[in-house]
Amino acid sequence: MNNFEYKNPTKILFGKGQIERLSEEIPRDAKVMMLYGGGSIKRTGIYEQVTKALLGYNLLEYGGIPPNPEYNVLMGALKVIKEEKVDFLLAVGGGSVIDGTKFLSAAAFFEGDNPWELLTKGKPVMKGMPFGTVLTLPATGSEMNSGLVITREETKEKLSTGGPALYPQFSVLDPEVVKSIPQQQLANGVADAYMHVMEQYMTYPMGGLIQDRFAEGILQTLIEVAPAIMKDPSDYKAAANFMWSCTMALNGLISKGVSEDWSVHMMGHELTALFGIDHARTLAILAPSHYQYNFETKKGKLAQYAERVWNVTEGTEDEKAKAGIKKTEEFFHSLDIKTKLSDYTKDYEGTAEEVAKRFTKRGWVKIGEHGTLTPEDAKKIVEMSY
Ligand code: NZQ
Ligand code: ZN
Repeated sequence: MNNFEYKNPTKILFGKGQIERLSEEIPRDAKVMMLYGGGSIKRTGIYEQVTKALLGYNLLEYGGIPPNPEYNVLMGALKVIKEEKVDFLLAVGGGSVIDGTKFLSAAAFFEGDNPWELLTKGKPVMKGMPFGTVLTLPATGSEMNSGLVITREETKEKLSTGGPALYPQFSVLDPEVVKSIPQQQLANGVADAYMHVMEQYMTYPMGGLIQDRFAEGILQTLIEVAPAIMKDPSDYKAAANFMWSCTMALNGLISKGVSEDWSVHMMGHELTALFGIDHARTLAILAPSHYQYNFETKKGKLAQYAERVWNVTEGTEDEKAKAGIKKTEEFFHSLDIKTKLSDYTKDYEGTAEEVAKRFTKRGWVKIGEHGTLTPEDAKKIVEMSY
């Protein structure tokens, strides 16, 4: 196991009725801006719960943050934050609203004319406006990590950054919000969390025994609760386990001391930037090809995964590893998620070359757990996913 440091300062308020406790977490004299998405929170009653909990606060609101949070929309919010001297941000939404709020937290304290540089310069964010979140969609883990991903439609880019200043001060996780989530988003949430675990686990056996068991436990829990959630999102037991699994999948814990390989996410973001495909679905498109392409370096872990997560007990290491890839793809299909790029767009020709070009331009020339995956490899993986 590698040496590591671990600090996660986000306070979690988990369970039914926790939204009521918002006022315990936000300073009374704060000027608060509540940020939200396209309006689901008004239909679900979450908006009402939040505003009720914050009665008496100096509260502004800014809605309309779209899925894959758009830079230009956020720049509109930034203007208001500065004009109104807002000093506390509250994200009420899924990963897009939370990531958008993290960007605003950083942008509010950014010294310079062009906050887009927060995403292009690759510097960790060390200063940000305090913020908290009310999670409405389990998926990304953004509620308990310090990363964010922002989209810019005019240049068809989707870039990420993060830093120690961008952990939420608190996050409210009430599993009752799950009951209003549409099937497509529930499936996305399960698949995204599943792939977060895989990106921190599917490398090679390196002696992180507890990390492996944590990861396998989260995968098995997601596999166990997925059918119940899809059948009845108001099943509280399933919703609570789904929600906590998604948070645990990407709050930094399971990757400590072990290698990671975020290649599928890196390639996936390009598919969202180019075609607008839902984030989780891009991962389902690419993961099987990625594991197939890197079979020789990953087969030890793939076989372990097949055995422990999917109970594949028969066969050689190679056969088990292959079964692991097959089971992964079948799991996505069980969520009604298609796993080929051509299922989502007819314009896929040239995508692999474009992804490789972008990787090269950004200097992403040696990625993966061994630092050996080149843009040429990424091109082949994307091609295999057509
Ligand atoms: O916008 P509204 O009207 O609120 O509707 C949303 C949105 O259309 C809806 N929704 C959310 N909660 C709901 C609900 N509908 C009914 N009932 C509820 N309770 O769901 C739709 C999708 O929301 P979004 O926030 O876009 O989804 P998700 O949480 O999957 O976030 C995706 C974004 O997060 C990024 C992705 O790249 C993408 O931009 N990621 C962020 C990560 C992070 N910060 O750590 C890691 C991830 O790998 C990911 O890259
Ligand atoms: Zn993801």
